[in-house]
Amino acid sequence: MNTSPLVPTYWRDQGIEQVLIDEASIARRVRELGQELSLEFADGKDVVLVAVLTGAVVFAADLMRAIPTRVAISMVSVTSYGASTTSQGAVLSSALPKNLAGKHVVIVDEVLDSGGTLRLLRTELSLLGVASLRACVLLRKQREQAMSTKCEMVGFDIPDVFVVGYGLDFNDEFRNMPFVGVLGEDGIRERSPR
Ligand code: IMP
Ligand code: MG
Repeated sequence: MNTSPLVPTYWRDQGIEQVLIDEASIARRVRELGQELSLEFADGKDVVLVAVLTGAVVFAADLMRAIPTRVAISMVSVTSYGASTTSQGAVLSSALPKNLAGKHVVIVDEVLDSGGTLRLLRTELSLLGVASLRACVLLRKQREQAMSTKCEMVGFDIPDVFVVGYGLDFNDEFRNMPFVGVLGEDGIRERSPR
C-alpha cells in the first residue's frame, strides 16, 4: 500500500490513528470484485448475494451495484460474542433466507477475522440445496484463523489490527466513516463500558 492519506481532523479527534484503506482504493477494488462475480456467473445463472448484517451493509450496497448483471439480495444476521474487539463465536440471530435451493449463493461479509461467521454460514446454507456457495469478504486479517478459513474472494489482506469504517463498527459507531481506519487504544478505551 502507498503512504496513506492523513486522517481527517474530525475522525482523528474521534480516535482514528491511521487511514488503512482510502475511499478511492475501496471503490476501485469493489468494482473489480463486481466484475469478477459477473464473469463467473456470465451465463444467466440465478445468483443471490447473502449479506451479513450489520457490518456488511455498506460493502454489499456498493458490491451489488458493481455487478452489471441480474442478481438477488438477501440478508442474514449473525452475532459474534466475546470481548468487544475480538470475536470468539458466532450465532445466527435471524432466520436463514428462503428459496435458496438451486441458486448460486455468495456470502458477503465485511471482515474475515476468527472465521466463525463464515464457517457457521457455510454449514447452514449448504443444507439448503444451493447450486454453489462461495464467500466474498472486503477485508481479511493476516492471522492464522482467518487465513485458514475457506474464502473464495478477498478484497484486501490487512494486518491483524482493529479497524472501523465502511460498515465496520466499534459499539455501533464509525460505520458511516467512508474509509477503513485503525481505531487506536485511546479511542477504544474511551468507548468501552467501565
Ligand atoms: P469472524 O471472527 O470472522 O466471525 O468475524 C466476526 C465479526 O466480528 C465480523 O463480521 C465483524 O462484525 C467483527 N469484527 C472482526 N474484526 C473486526 C474489526 O477489526 N473491526 C470491527 N469489527 C470486527
Ligand atoms: Mg460482521
